Amino acid sequence: MTVYAIIGGTGLTQLEGLHIQQALPMNTPYGATSADILRGEYAGREVLFLARHGHPHRLPPHQVNYRANIWALKQAGAEAILAVNAVGGIHPAMGTGHFCVPDQVIDYTHGREHTYFADDLEHVTHIDFSYPYDQPLRERLLAALAAEGCAYSDFGVYGCTQGPRLETVAEIVRMQRDGCDIVGMTGMPEAALARELEIPYACLALVVNPAAGKSAAVITMAEIEQALLDGMGKVKATLARVLAAV
Ligand code: HPA
Repeated sequence: MTVYAIIGGTGLTQLEGLHIQQALPMNTPYGATSADILRGEYAGREVLFLARHGHPHRLPPHQVNYRANIWALKQAGAEAILAVNAVGGIHPAMGTGHFCVPDQVIDYTHGREHTYFADDLEHVTHIDFSYPYDQPLRERLLAALAAEGCAYSDFGVYGCTQGPRLETVAEIVRMQRDGCDIVGMTGMPEAALARELEIPYACLALVVNPAAGKSAAVITMAEIEQALLDGMGKVKATLARVLAAV
């Protein structure tokens, strides 16, 4: 049976209901992971769980060691990754509480360690990344969202910004022109690193605020935290359905 890994984002630093069998402290050639990788049973099957920002939450998006995290998950036996990301909504359908399973990504980050192929200049490898997310995994997420009765979109371009600050209105206008539907800070380089290590990867994004300029008000951490509280139950139920179904 495929070994699934879940990468929990903001609001999901621990997975209640995970019966932990092992905590794997992981040091990799790229440094330490954000937290121990937890191996355990969730929804009746073996899963790996990693808190992207650490547990408790301590790493901002640009300081997450994405290379160590994905490398360690591979070492721990991950054969598929379900990544959970909190995002801002740009497309009119992407209101707070809405789910998106993106099919494309645009990377606006800079200065992050973003490849395993940096040091070996004689064997530069250019992975194909036309379709950054694994389609069968996306379909499983979409089926689970439908079964849970969640509001969701089966399309979406994820624009990944550097953070940790939120965007200006002009930046969101530009991102919308670029075709972005949602905006977050943690989708990249994670997805590309998973592709480099040939681990199928898909993203379950929860909209926790309208992106800058998409509502009359400024964005507050309180509203984001409330949306995370409101949405995480559905995230966990959706993940459980995916795991129970495969
Ligand atoms: N912008 C970037 N990242 C985010 C946002 C946002 O509005 N909301 C949650 N993560």
